[in-house]
Amino acid sequence: MTPITVPVALGDRSYDIFIGEGQRFQLATHLKDVGLEKSRIFILTDEQVWAAQGSALTQALDADNLRYDVLQVPSGEATKAFSTLETVLETLIEHGAERSDVLIAFGGGVVGDLAGLVAGLMKRGMPFIQVPTTLLSQVDSSVGGKTAINSRFGKNLIGLFNQPKRVIIDIDTLKTLDPREWQAGYAEVIKYGLIDRPDFFAWLEANSSDILSGNVETLAHAVATSCRAKAAIVSADETERGQRALLNLGHTFGHAIERAYGFDGRVLHGEAVATGCAMAYRFSADLGLCDPADLPRIESLLTRAGLAPTLSALGKIALSADELLEHMRHDKKAESGALTLILAKGLGQAFVQKDVDPHSLRRFLEAEIKR
Ligand code: GLY
Repeated sequence: MTPITVPVALGDRSYDIFIGEGQRFQLATHLKDVGLEKSRIFILTDEQVWAAQGSALTQALDADNLRYDVLQVPSGEATKAFSTLETVLETLIEHGAERSDVLIAFGGGVVGDLAGLVAGLMKRGMPFIQVPTTLLSQVDSSVGGKTAINSRFGKNLIGLFNQPKRVIIDIDTLKTLDPREWQAGYAEVIKYGLIDRPDFFAWLEANSSDILSGNVETLAHAVATSCRAKAAIVSADETERGQRALLNLGHTFGHAIERAYGFDGRVLHGEAVATGCAMAYRFSADLGLCDPADLPRIESLLTRAGLAPTLSALGKIALSADELLEHMRHDKKAESGALTLILAKGLGQAFVQKDVDPHSLRRFLEAEIKR
């Protein structure tokens, strides 16, 4: 397939997202395009990704006579920590990395978030390129420049806005992705339709079978449209003063679910976001904001993708409305105790609702638990 290019317009920090087959093996061309062909390459990756994909990548780099060092970090969310940040920065310094060198983030969201922060801090900033290898990181975390590690007080509390020089999305990496990870990423694809692209939502409904069976062209179109949707929102509000919050559709409900499950892997982030999106729409319908006739379409698309539209479909742990509400209040989007939620006036018409009434929300959560 012909690669698809999606520009992210951010003035002098603008960059392109390349989407296609075999793109990860075209690193030499991409580096030349962004003027980094003479740079020494540092690849930051995680142990699982490197074990599965490292030798194919190094073969391509060797064939192109590129000089590179590989820094591997453990797989998993615990890697987004001060200790790993310190180790990676000290290792780069020990290896003589300069500001003219380039850091390549090769992996999922954990690697991308860490690499972006490392690149922003290393000698006050070295360029970095995102090569995301999971669907979730391809359509969300690699685009838009949010970088972070976790604090013991919460997720993503220590970070920078730092835009990459390019995002290279190789659709082929999805062929070996664990099916649950794939579904969790697909939830974020559906999210873009629900935010402000009703036509994309209808296209996903019509093309669901092709996407689920891994048709490369259809998948590339879905990824490109998701990236385009995110790029438009990020270009208008890079540092989340307003509309970028729309990208959090389903996330405040989703984070509360993840917290209730104790972040123990029983529910993946994207799985919780899928349920959270359906809940945000049902709450909107409850409040008389959107037409209840939209709900079956959303629930059906999620179900067809193996995602859970309700709490009971998600799992079997007992949840309480008070516990969920408490977790929602502690979400980082809550400002001085007031709850902000992303709600919708119709399918693909999401908006930021400040000062959500906690009593209506509590009643809604009670009903959701019984659904
Ligand atoms: N993942 C949400 C954002 O990039 O703003």
